[in-house]
Amino acid sequence: MMNLFDLSGKAAIVTGASTGLGQGMALGLAEAGADLVLVDYVSSDETAEEIRKLGRKAVVVVANLMTIDPIPSIIEKTISEFGKVDILVNNAGIIRRTPAIDFSEKDWDEVMAINAKTVFFFAQAAARDMMKRKYGKIINIASLLAFQGGILVPSYAASKGAVAQITKAMANEWAVHGLNINAIAPGYMATNNTKALRDDPVRSKAILDRIPAGRWGLPSDLKGAAIFLASAASDYVNGHVLVVDGGWLAR
Ligand SMILES: NC(=O)c1ccc[n+]([C@@H]2O[C@H](COP(=O)([O-])OP(=O)(O)OC[C@H]3O[C@@H](n4cnc5c(N)ncnc54)[C@H](O)[C@@H]3O)[C@@H](O)[C@H]2O)c1
Repeated sequence: MMNLFDLSGKAAIVTGASTGLGQGMALGLAEAGADLVLVDYVSSDETAEEIRKLGRKAVVVVANLMTIDPIPSIIEKTISEFGKVDILVNNAGIIRRTPAIDFSEKDWDEVMAINAKTVFFFAQAAARDMMKRKYGKIINIASLLAFQGGILVPSYAASKGAVAQITKAMANEWAVHGLNINAIAPGYMATNNTKALRDDPVRSKAILDRIPAGRWGLPSDLKGAAIFLASAASDYVNGHVLVVDGGWLAR
């Protein structure tokens, strides 16, 4: 039964792997047996060290994903190190908080660039290699704001809605080529992304009061969902957005 989740011999790329959810998912994939390419605009050395302690390989790539320019070289690096791309976790993302009435074009464009455009073109580049072997798992990181509008974060909500729709669009075209394209929608997780919310006692209490599980999520809470969507256990799961939110959306 456990073999369904075994990732031994698989090569995975995780973006935004230096900290937070990307770091948590990279460690989870390594625990299941995968070797990793860790991409971030700051060094992912700490994540790499933890992965090597698990006996798995880790390659650190420093690249700014605000544009799609670095993508071909990251794919080439992965192929030169591991011979192929089996798994891509499109996790790197940013958020900007300003009332919608004052929201700037810069905050719109930058959030859409990394959260939506890079997600699509990174998946496209990975899929071109995956299709050669008729095998590949792409996991895009969406958000509860793929379903809800949020407060003060209009470009983030737009970008995460786009992630959910891109996921379905790619699944519709690429499932027949042996690829599984799915998304994870994390709930409210304790990372840098939500520091401003956790530092605001009013918002923090309001959020916590609504989470049935009674706590903020942790990066390690995404390990199971990431391993599931990266492994043979999800071979007939296509275009799904898997919510991991302590029950938030159920309320
Ligand atoms: N924390 C949450 O509650 C939450 C909820 C839903 C979705 N998410 C999503 O999960 C993903 C990870 O977020 P997180 O909570 O771990 O936040 P985080 O800010 O801790 O991590 C984001 C990661 O992306 C990297 N990154 C940012 N800009 C980059 C760039 N231009 N180029 C390359 N790398 C870049 C950062 O260095 C960091 O490693 C994001 O897509 C975020 O939108 C987070």
